[in-house]
Amino acid sequence: MQTTVQQARRVEQLVVGKETSDGAGVRLTRVLTGNLQRRLDPFLMLDAFGSDDPDDYIAGFPDHPHRGFETITYMLAGRMRHRDSAGHEGLLENGGMQWMTAGRGVIHSEIPQQEEGVMEGFQLWLNLPAQDKMSTPWYRDFAAAELPRVNVGDGGTAIVLAGESQGVTGAVTRETTAPLYLDLHLTAGSSFAQPLSADLNAFVYVYRGAVNIAGEAVAAGRMAILTNEGDGISVEAAEDARLILVAGRPLNEPIAQYGPFVMNTQEEIQQALADFRAGHLA
Ligand code: CO
Repeated sequence: MQTTVQQARRVEQLVVGKETSDGAGVRLTRVLTGNLQRRLDPFLMLDAFGSDDPDDYIAGFPDHPHRGFETITYMLAGRMRHRDSAGHEGLLENGGMQWMTAGRGVIHSEIPQQEEGVMEGFQLWLNLPAQDKMSTPWYRDFAAAELPRVNVGDGGTAIVLAGESQGVTGAVTRETTAPLYLDLHLTAGSSFAQPLSADLNAFVYVYRGAVNIAGEAVAAGRMAILTNEGDGISVEAAEDARLILVAGRPLNEPIAQYGPFVMNTQEEIQQALADFRAGHLA
């Protein structure tokens, strides 16, 4: 197990998310936007949400369809109920993760189960290879206690949502896109190193405190896209910090997106719309 990094990736670009709203009026920050889909292939979107004002989240996400990719919802705080047309239902809460493979299609809803308090987390969209876009939908909820974690640095923790880190296999692994998804809690002055093959695209998003990556400061609320040179990632916590680290192998396939449908061609998008209107996603 290699845990050291000789040449750490540098920060290529710092990104400030766009304030927007989605669903029935949930306020969120779109960190990974459409113009970065090619650079950060296989990732299609990252939304960060976090508010203690119920008006920002109470409306939730009523019934809506997806086809052609996977959605990964990581709930740092709050409670949300998920229901979908494949008959899955689950409660996602404090520290839990929901992984949904939309495949050929599902219609689902995500509705807050709280009328006050903090709701905070992330939704990441991971593309599916062309050959798997019409696969059978799959879904699983992981409670916080089911997510593998490992001690890192000086009193820090890495929660391994996907992939493999420090010899620990994450909750979910995927062969083609090889996603790595870590939630890192680092103590001030400590560092974390993750070997990573140069062909994988990678970024971090800091949501508490501040870190340094190859000498560049990355503050809370910033995404740092990392270069593809070097043998891994090294993060130093300038103060107590929390961040997600995401990496994956690019598909290098055409991306055709229309809202919640992500396929390879416009014809496939038209088919998805026709199937949705005909009730074939339900
Ligand atoms: Co959805």
